[in-house]
Amino acid sequence: MAAPDSHRTAGWWRDAIIYQVYPRSFADGDGDGTGDLAGVRARLPYLAELGVDAVWFTPWYVSPLVDGGYDVADYRTIDPAFGTLGEAEKLITEARELGIRTIVDIVPNHVSDQHAWFRAALAAGPGSEERKRFHFRPGRGENGELPPNDWPSQFSGPTWTRVPDGEWYLHLFTPEQPDLNWAHPEVRREHEDVLRFWFERGVAGVRIDSAALLAKDPALADFEEGVDPHPYIDQDELHDIYRSWRAVADEYGGVFVGEVWLPDAERFARYLRPDELHTAFNFNFLSCPWDADRLRRTIDDTLAEHAPVGAPATWVLCNHDVTRTVTRYGREDTGFDFATKAFGTPTDPALGTRRARAAALLTLSLPGSVYLYQGEELGLPEADVPLDRIQDPMHSRSGGVDPGRDGCRVPLPWSADAPYCGFGSETEPWLPQPAGWSAYAADRQGADPESMLSLYREALLLRRTTDGFGDGPLDWLPAPDGVLAYRRPGGLMCVVNLSPGPVALPAHSTLLLGSGPLDGDGRLPRDTAVWLRA
Ligand code: BGC
Repeated sequence: MAAPDSHRTAGWWRDAIIYQVYPRSFADGDGDGTGDLAGVRARLPYLAELGVDAVWFTPWYVSPLVDGGYDVADYRTIDPAFGTLGEAEKLITEARELGIRTIVDIVPNHVSDQHAWFRAALAAGPGSEERKRFHFRPGRGENGELPPNDWPSQFSGPTWTRVPDGEWYLHLFTPEQPDLNWAHPEVRREHEDVLRFWFERGVAGVRIDSAALLAKDPALADFEEGVDPHPYIDQDELHDIYRSWRAVADEYGGVFVGEVWLPDAERFARYLRPDELHTAFNFNFLSCPWDADRLRRTIDDTLAEHAPVGAPATWVLCNHDVTRTVTRYGREDTGFDFATKAFGTPTDPALGTRRARAAALLTLSLPGSVYLYQGEELGLPEADVPLDRIQDPMHSRSGGVDPGRDGCRVPLPWSADAPYCGFGSETEPWLPQPAGWSAYAADRQGADPESMLSLYREALLLRRTTDGFGDGPLDWLPAPDGVLAYRRPGGLMCVVNLSPGPVALPAHSTLLLGSGPLDGDGRLPRDTAVWLRA
């Protein structure tokens, strides 16, 4: 169990293990079919035993849940389905006593259409002060019947919706998520207040949703392919916003992780300058196919782009928006297509699990911090959710083409023999658990030394108690084609075999941990990783 003030206290975030909780699907404390804070509080000992340093909660605020809580109606209140503010405060304290810090999720690009500001904007009408906090515009065409511009949506479908008085408002996501106008001083002030509100309640960090989308070209000009700057991605004004956020965080010793997805490494690194965000997600690693050369290039590029600004890298294999790791890695083509998600592509669960185990040891031994999505430690595959039960708006907005993200959001299995696999519900949970889910139950895996859960527990324990992990240099070692081998400080080594056949391990090394057994000749089989000490 991590001590509350362990050796990583100063700059703890530079090499932390951060566990992502999707509250709706983690554990149900009141039996109503939806996960909640009572469920999380009851499972804190599990997280402490797993050995995580922090928990990131996807939004837990009052929300109509049109986009799984990323449509926030009130940042200062917990959704009643999850609990109360008092419970959130207790949770933050109890977690801290177990050595686990709390990270909350702030969604600054948009609010729910049920947010007081948007309701006031609708009521106040065209030209009002209330509408200036959003992007309301008259339409184009003779009678204003056409949207004000042609911006592509982040979800499928239009980015503008017309209200009864004839004006249109901008929403990069669903119509229930109107975009805020970040050129408005009240929008900035309000978010800095919200940051303070949560820092004052003891949270250690904030994840910033869609962090590169907030600022918009003031002309709202049409989108032109290939023309820079993009009208709403990575606008220069963002840096000024994040510098003032950083000043707020510094008052409390809080940290940020930005959801910043930019192909340009230099532009990405600007967000990580010392007076801006502490860290940002590294999606290139997540979307990299299971291929040694490409993984090595991604790791090198990631480290190279972080080095000049002195920020630590973050590593993530999975989250609430993407197909689960075991299912992705079980596919012939392991690339991840965010547009189609390769739905229906055949997957081999045994292969996917073997690779996911190896990927765990790879990820956990890279320099920087690691994000672990709930259920990843159980090796959960993507669940097939019956079409008539899918709730994610990505599905409906794509006309049913995109399966949406519910397959990675299915309630966790805790106890193999309990109703609904011990999720805690007395009625069927909000998303159905597929047949066979109990095989992944935490209680069953905890008793099996070969399970994914046992691998994660052991790996996290070693990572915490052995020198060489986390922040620091990484040096590649000579290795055969298809094999990744590197050295970390203190003689720690990681070897991952992505080649078709077994390979010999470096001589004079001691095995610390393997993602699977060595073969009869002491060689490392394909799709297997080991940690060694020279
Ligand atoms: C979140 C998604 C959400 C979107 C809109 C994202 O990047 O991770 O789950 O749908 O932002 O808020």
